[in-house]
Amino acid sequence: MNKKFKRTTITSALPYANGPIHIGHLAGVYVPADIYARYLRLKGEDIVFIGGSDEHGVPVTIRARKEGITTQEVVDRYHELIKDSFERFGISFDIYSRTTSKTHHKVASDFFRKLYDEGKFVEQVTEQFYDEQTQHFLTDRNIKGECPRCHNTDAYGDQCEKCGATLSPEELINPYNAETGNPLVKRETKHWYLPLDKAQPWLEQWILNDHKEWRPNVYGQCKSWLDGGLKPRAVTRDLEWGIPVPVEGAEGKVLYVWFDAPIGYISNTVELCEQRPELGSWEKWWKDPETRLVHFIGKDNIVFHCIVFPTMLKEHGDYILPDNVPANEFLNLEGNKISTSKNYAVWLNEYLDELPGRQDELRYVLTANAPETKDNDFTWADFQARCNNELVAVYGNFVNRALQLTQKYYEGLVPERSELTDFDRETLAEFDGIKAKLETLLDNFKFRDAQKEAMNLARIGNKYIADSEPWKVIKTDPERVKTIINISLQLTANLAIAFEPFLPFSSKRLREMLNMESFRWEQLGNTDLLAPGKQLGSPSLLFSKVEDSVIEAQTKKLEDALKANMEAEYKVEPVKETIAFDDFQKLDIRVGTVLECERVPKMKKLLKFLIDDGMQKRTIVSGIAEWYEPEQLKGKQVLFVANLAPREFKNGLVSEGMILSATNWDGSVVTTTTLSDVKPGSQIS
Ligand code: MF3
Ligand code: ZN
Repeated sequence: MNKKFKRTTITSALPYANGPIHIGHLAGVYVPADIYARYLRLKGEDIVFIGGSDEHGVPVTIRARKEGITTQEVVDRYHELIKDSFERFGISFDIYSRTTSKTHHKVASDFFRKLYDEGKFVEQVTEQFYDEQTQHFLTDRNIKGECPRCHNTDAYGDQCEKCGATLSPEELINPYNAETGNPLVKRETKHWYLPLDKAQPWLEQWILNDHKEWRPNVYGQCKSWLDGGLKPRAVTRDLEWGIPVPVEGAEGKVLYVWFDAPIGYISNTVELCEQRPELGSWEKWWKDPETRLVHFIGKDNIVFHCIVFPTMLKEHGDYILPDNVPANEFLNLEGNKISTSKNYAVWLNEYLDELPGRQDELRYVLTANAPETKDNDFTWADFQARCNNELVAVYGNFVNRALQLTQKYYEGLVPERSELTDFDRETLAEFDGIKAKLETLLDNFKFRDAQKEAMNLARIGNKYIADSEPWKVIKTDPERVKTIINISLQLTANLAIAFEPFLPFSSKRLREMLNMESFRWEQLGNTDLLAPGKQLGSPSLLFSKVEDSVIEAQTKKLEDALKANMEAEYKVEPVKETIAFDDFQKLDIRVGTVLECERVPKMKKLLKFLIDDGMQKRTIVSGIAEWYEPEQLKGKQVLFVANLAPREFKNGLVSEGMILSATNWDGSVVTTTTLSDVKPGSQIS
């Protein structure tokens, strides 16, 4: 750690208590934060690792309405679920509290009041949309209306989902309350604004000059915000759910969720220090310049942690500012966006139930694939491959061999090592540098590369024991085997320590098998961790194979969720403009018999038909190859447009007509056929 600092306050974004935790949250925030916290603890550093639920804000109230329960019930349910699944997953928070706690309401309220009393806010009256019937001001997301661009009548106050336009509620034609459908009027309301514009100069200095070492994605986002020029931001809202604005005449107003939530880090530290007096005063963790503050977050939280919250802390005075904000990009799932509202995710609680005892496997894959510099994709196939080819075949295989052979040859006693070969020395040398290598990477939040290094060590061990072949040598040179096994065991102990921040469950099991009391980071690189003659515990497999059936079941679950979404979102297209009967009569739709049907080389989507149209044979090409095998359609009678001008395809193929098909809600295609035999050439009218 940098000499300047004596201790570290680690925070991880407080998840909204509006749904369970999913792998996107884990990969983006909690796994890296936990690796870092465990690493520093192993080094014996003074740290607190702060977590908690974000229980205010619109997302939780939306969930409540959706589920038909109170907002309090929503946050109670998800707070417990989230807290419990983090615990089972081994996220080693020192505290996991919530923003509905008494302590937090007081801390956040006092924070606001101090800034208010010192005149740090700007008061501003603006006109907002208001529902006179329900007597509510509405947030952008709760306002709907007609899109000024595409005239979709279901556009939101912030965005039209049909044409993708970014909107403000003012632009909507005939705005209405999304929930009640009531028309809206404009009404004046007063709010308090944090003048970020005034903070711009010192923020520029502090971020752009003093923190060039921040991750490029974080630095870049800050720079573009700053380049765009900061504007005052409202820190209050007209809502019922939240922390009441502690000012006379502010009835019906609450603190904006992004004002209170980051203060939750402080409140939770206050609670923690009350529970554990040995940590000293909470202020030490937030106000002492010798404390280092690190925020783990996802990329959508960057502006709040690098610009808004630091401005709040600075305006308040006395607080330290974050030393680093290692934000991750997003994790996708099987090529699609993870979505809580669309129920498309791998939920942590379900994972823990459905793949019991496999916490480290998920931790490993999420770190191996961590979206540190760009968005990444989680696939179950990759999960299986990494578990089976890396954890089982390399790490697990190596330590299992070392431990089993110790039982078999030496009754579980660590053998002595004697003369070393060149290969022994080379292998041991690889372990020399590991501590420094890992530290450089971990200190710079490069968790993915750090885990790769640790795995590399396992590969070296695996190769060492495979190439040394103690199971053969035992017959010819039993003394030599002692040395091989001794070295293998020392490597095993090193691996257990190196992997502790990443794979804490297996490290703990390995520690028990090695009969070691505790691990310290300092021990890393030491090749005399296990004294000759030491009795080891009984070995068991560290990892087991992930079977195909497990992967298939998980993949199917995701496909089902996608299908359910498509079905829910499917809207029947509005009927096209009315046409005159004469216009209809221009279309010559007929029945044709499929004489031949085949795929078209190099054109994956196309089927080529030979159709008997009652007079002659004609060729029709249709883009339905994805949905039918040619044999399925041979002999069938289809409907086709007979008087369509011929169309030529790139490869010279000419289509003389068009076969009629229906596109179903899920995008699948069904070709129209006749119910009973009809003479080819019959007209449809
Ligand atoms: N609940 C927010 C989210 O999920 C994160 C809040 S972080 C905090 O995006 F700093 F505000 F707590
Ligand atoms: Zn639109």
